Amino acid sequence: MVFLRKYLESCGCEPDLIALIRLISRQMDPIRKAFLDNQMYEHSLNASGELQAQMDTWADDHLIRVVGESGLVRELASEEQEKIIRFENSRCEYAMVMDPLDGSSLISTDLAVGTIVGIFENGGVLQPGSKLKAAFYTLFGPLTVLVVSVGKGVQSFAWDPETEHYLLLKDSFSVPEGTQYGTGGVRNEWLAPHVKVIDYFDQKGFKIRYSGSFVADCHQLLVYGGIYTYPGSEKKPNGKLRILFEANPLGYIITQAGGRITDGKQNILDIQPEKPHQRTPIYIGSKGIIEKIEEIYSLS
Ligand code: AHG
Ligand code: MN
Ligand code: MN
Ligand code: MN
Repeated sequence: MVFLRKYLESCGCEPDLIALIRLISRQMDPIRKAFLDNQMYEHSLNASGELQAQMDTWADDHLIRVVGESGLVRELASEEQEKIIRFENSRCEYAMVMDPLDGSSLISTDLAVGTIVGIFENGGVLQPGSKLKAAFYTLFGPLTVLVVSVGKGVQSFAWDPETEHYLLLKDSFSVPEGTQYGTGGVRNEWLAPHVKVIDYFDQKGFKIRYSGSFVADCHQLLVYGGIYTYPGSEKKPNGKLRILFEANPLGYIITQAGGRITDGKQNILDIQPEKPHQRTPIYIGSKGIIEKIEEIYSLS
């Protein structure tokens, strides 16, 4: 059995980075408990998914408090916070981006949701994803799994409630050239190049398989390959997903596993974000299929 801390030490990670990854990835117990409290004791689920909104806020408040008390983070940007948070008392310069709860609309259906985190060594949160020092997510499925990259490929760990440790599950991932895809948005709002991409997938006989939780839909790319995409539309040319909190951490991880992430024209990890909540159209997954997608866009 290889514990998370031992493995990250073997990768040459600084102790404070290891402490930060361990601290956040151990918050899944309180978050899972909050799911139960929300579900069991909150009978009304209003049309706008108010219940999920409470869980987003709860997870955000909880993680900000834990991170703030740790003294390990100088700057924090969260999907649930309009502004960037600065911790003057921090003893470290790490800058952290997080989606405290991704896929929260699926809590009421008990499908897999998770927390997404990216860490920069210093220099603040508004940096290209290629500059990340570490990226990881916890995924609440049949197992509670932590998937992490510190620039030495991608590893996964499973939470063992007996020993209260994350145990090494898989020490490397390589994204296969898959034959499945998932897509956000609705067909009659897609822009022409995206329609061509989806038609290409259908002509190739790709299966459609996704859940609507970005973190879960990307996790399966590590295993099966293929593509997850959330495109732009006339009304929302930049789509729905956020560069800082979703695209960059998952794009960094997928790239470390031999996959790619693009907006159709460029590698998203190269984008210099201007604002914390900047959105981008996303294609993420198998390298060969991403290259084909960029070819389709270049001809459109
Ligand atoms: P979040 O719950 O953090 O707001 O993210 C939801 C996102 C992402 O998880 C998923 O890919 C996308 O919303 C699904 O959107 P649609 O329901 O419009 O497909
Ligand atoms: Mn999200
Ligand atoms: Mn949200
Ligand atoms: Mn979220």
